[in-house]
Amino acid sequence: MAEFAARATARWRAIDSLLPDPVAGNGAAPGGQDAHCGASLAVGAGGNLDAFGTCRHTEPDPAGIDLSWGMARRFELAPRVVGPAPAAALDRLISLWRRHLADVPGSDEDDTAAVITWPSRDIEGVAALQRHGLRPLAVVALRAARRAARGARGPGRQAGPVRVRQAGPHDVDAVVRFGAEVARFDAHFSGTPERPGTAAALRHEAARLLGDQPWTWLAERDGKPVGMIATQPPAHATWIAPLTRLSPVAYTLLGYVTPDERSSGIGAALAAHLHDTVDPAGVAATLLHYEQLNPYAAPFWSRQGYRPLWTTWEARPARSLR
Ligand SMILES: CC(C)(COP(=O)(O)OP(=O)(O)OC[C@H]1O[C@@H](n2cnc3c(N)ncnc32)[C@H](O)[C@@H]1OP(=O)(O)O)[C@@H](O)C(=O)NCCC(=O)NCCS
Repeated sequence: MAEFAARATARWRAIDSLLPDPVAGNGAAPGGQDAHCGASLAVGAGGNLDAFGTCRHTEPDPAGIDLSWGMARRFELAPRVVGPAPAAALDRLISLWRRHLADVPGSDEDDTAAVITWPSRDIEGVAALQRHGLRPLAVVALRAARRAARGARGPGRQAGPVRVRQAGPHDVDAVVRFGAEVARFDAHFSGTPERPGTAAALRHEAARLLGDQPWTWLAERDGKPVGMIATQPPAHATWIAPLTRLSPVAYTLLGYVTPDERSSGIGAALAAHLHDTVDPAGVAATLLHYEQLNPYAAPFWSRQGYRPLWTTWEARPARSLR
């Protein structure tokens, strides 16, 4: 197994220098949920071990924000592949996993998903993931800190008469309102059903985001909030830190601009405030999720310096895995 781990590590390093070592990051959707199952699946054995993965069954906290962006029961596989034919190895591993899930009670229920979080740049696996009926839904994107000073303000920093200011504890309502808008907007692409607990979960998150020295900014026109960026500092972003070798990381939970104010540079101005804060604070990387099919997200975040690191592939319900 040590030799397999060394080869899997070498493979990931060659594919993307920002990935963690496979043993450190489990490649499954991160989070603090209780996981069970732990079934190990292997293709080959000993020196001929070509693929290995552990299955985790998780159920996000019904009161937590994670549930607003995904299924209620998740069956996650963290595959590692090595050897000259990684696509074939992954293909066989997913076939084993499919057989495993066929025996798991409830894996055919509506609110379930079979989930593989796969390195975005590991393009060799894409055909196998598609063949098994998995769809690429969300992306974890990363922006590495700029070591050099940013110099002049970013191009979108002066967004006309719109003022950007750091948010504080009294801004909970605006953060919750914009957070709910993001959840509603993302539901078009994530296929997540509306969750009754979203508002309460957002209120809880907002209180944390707006604690000491918040890394949350609001854009205001005439004193009225029109946009927001809300980021967890490293102490609150440890749950996602294992997804990259860079450390420490911050995590942007929410980015939003009201529809009538979009495309005028407000989003860019908000991102510039964030980056002007996180870079000097020693944050090595800022991570965020966006929905692959959100037509606003990928181009926008790409312009702000983010690029895909992981792609989450899902089959829903879990037993629809082919
Ligand atoms: C993603 C989002 C936050 C971007 O905010 P935004 O204020 O529209 O972003 P910007 O205006 O800075 O940049 C977007 C566009 O404006 C252009 N732009 C940037 N600065 C500009 C400026 N100073 N003047 C004019 N246009 C500008 C950009 O080039 C870009 O061009 P495009 O319209 O052709 O795409 C916003 O679209 C949004 O809220 N979307 C819905 C929710 C969502 O997707 N959230 C992100 C989930 S991960």
